Amino acid sequence: MTNSIAIDGPAGAGKSTIAKMVSKKLGFIYVDTGAMYRAMALYLLREKVDPSDAAAISSKCQNADITIKHENGEQVVYLNGENVNGFIRTEEVGNMASSSSVNSNVRKKLVELQQKLAAETDVVMDGRDIGTVVLPDSKCKVYLTASSKVRADRRYKELIAKGQQCDLEKIEQDIIERDRRDMTRDISPLKKADDATEVDSSYMTIEEVADKIISLYESSKN
Ligand code: DC
Repeated sequence: MTNSIAIDGPAGAGKSTIAKMVSKKLGFIYVDTGAMYRAMALYLLREKVDPSDAAAISSKCQNADITIKHENGEQVVYLNGENVNGFIRTEEVGNMASSSSVNSNVRKKLVELQQKLAAETDVVMDGRDIGTVVLPDSKCKVYLTASSKVRADRRYKELIAKGQQCDLEKIEQDIIERDRRDMTRDISPLKKADDATEVDSSYMTIEEVADKIISLYESSKN
């Protein structure tokens, strides 16, 4: 029997930073499920599939073989044998992922892969439906949130640090719109599992959030 920590929450709440830190501290493998949806989106973009063509997404997604490996402590996503880590963090891929992740064939394929990974090894897994769909029996489920204002502010600072021009108000509007889309979709919408603990990271440091999750995990084992 393997151990798991399931972390769900809206974009920008700090899931991946926290999940990475927690997995390192516990010696678990970190599984970023968003990266798998992004790899699938990259495949569909390369195949020139129209994001609004559900039938094309349903059939084309069957030809994308997505696998995950861990190399030097980092998750590497392979798409039909190619390491695509360097291609999946663009706005274009993010937008396609937002459209294609509502497709039931896409979800079925990726959820199976995620469940297989969690059955083989101890994982900290983050996404939108981990506690509700992927690992419903996980004993440690966390719903990580932060206010849209705080999330926008974090994103703004990241972009400014990269030297990119941006508008704080527009970033917050985009975040609110993305939350609405993720929370209202028909299939696997983002929602807190009944047995998840909500952690609001708005006024906590990264270390405080990681420590809180580790203490939730420790107490879930008793
Ligand atoms: O967390 P992210 O931005 O890398 O996620 C990319 C997209 O994939 C986003 O639109 C939400 C979607 N996603 C999902 O539907 N289910 C998951 N478990 C993870 C991500």
